[in-house]
Amino acid sequence: MSGGWADWLREGRFAGMSEEEREEQLRLLGVVRDQVLDLARLGPGDDVLDLGAGTGLLTFGAHERIGDGWVIAVDPEVDNLQELLRTAHGLEAAGISYLVGDAEVLPLPDASVDAAVTRSVLMYVEDLAEAARELFRVLRPGGRLACYEPLNRRGTYLPTTVDWTPVGADLAARVAAEWEAHAASSALMRLDEGALEGALQDAGFAEVSVEVGERDEPWLVDEASAAARLDAVGAAGEPSLRERWARTFAPHELELFVAHLGSLAGTTLTFRRAEAWVSATRP
Ligand SMILES: C[S@@+](CC[C@H](N)C(=O)[O-])C[C@H]1O[C@@H](n2cnc3c(N)ncnc32)[C@H](O)[C@@H]1O
Repeated sequence: MSGGWADWLREGRFAGMSEEEREEQLRLLGVVRDQVLDLARLGPGDDVLDLGAGTGLLTFGAHERIGDGWVIAVDPEVDNLQELLRTAHGLEAAGISYLVGDAEVLPLPDASVDAAVTRSVLMYVEDLAEAARELFRVLRPGGRLACYEPLNRRGTYLPTTVDWTPVGADLAARVAAEWEAHAASSALMRLDEGALEGALQDAGFAEVSVEVGERDEPWLVDEASAAARLDAVGAAGEPSLRERWARTFAPHELELFVAHLGSLAGTTLTFRRAEAWVSATRP
């Protein structure tokens, strides 16, 4: 990907990554963006809601496809919409409106858009049923919903992918227990494909399709990227793995974990990523 929005990601969200990792992340985001927009079957003149627009991945992609239609970017975070607005000005992209709002109470009239698109947003929503009803309400009859959501509970992560037994069987068991407790309580782990499908059907959607995909994500371990993964946060306000471990383990135990990761430098680990591709129509 090239252009203002991709450059913003290179300099912002992906700033700590190697150039190779950054370009791979951009490539993957571009693939997801295009697949969601394809699923929504956007055409010239469509008005499109981008729910949880963030900094505009889908907004700008949709904008390119709909000619003189409007993209309505909705997000609860004013900062995100301001960033989106700045990028839109840089790109001289007209035909985008910016509304602060939540999936559970959409700031749009009934039957006001031809399509709704969303990526990695429903997993943050507390009341999925309400969000599905709101999406149904704002779509015009015949309107299309397309959505991509990570299924985090099906994924694998540092605690579950690394063989921790070299730090000691007892510590390895405590790493596993900490992970299970986290996964059971984290809001970001709760979304599953059955809940998505059920919420859309109950809201009245037709032609509901939820396809689950799984892919491998290889990681060539080195000290810098190990530190970045320990410090990564799943969402604003969520603790990083390092912060979680600091609550559960003594400082010398944490040092053992970091040293063990360091000893893996040069090897490749493979994480599993799972995701749901969703489409539905308002009859
Ligand atoms: C991982 S980002 C994805 C942003 C964008 N869709 C993209 O593809 O880059 C998640 C976005 O969902 C927004 N969000 C979180 N909770 C939400 C809610 N209840 N309703 C609508 N948006 C929400 C966040 O503010 C954030 O912009």
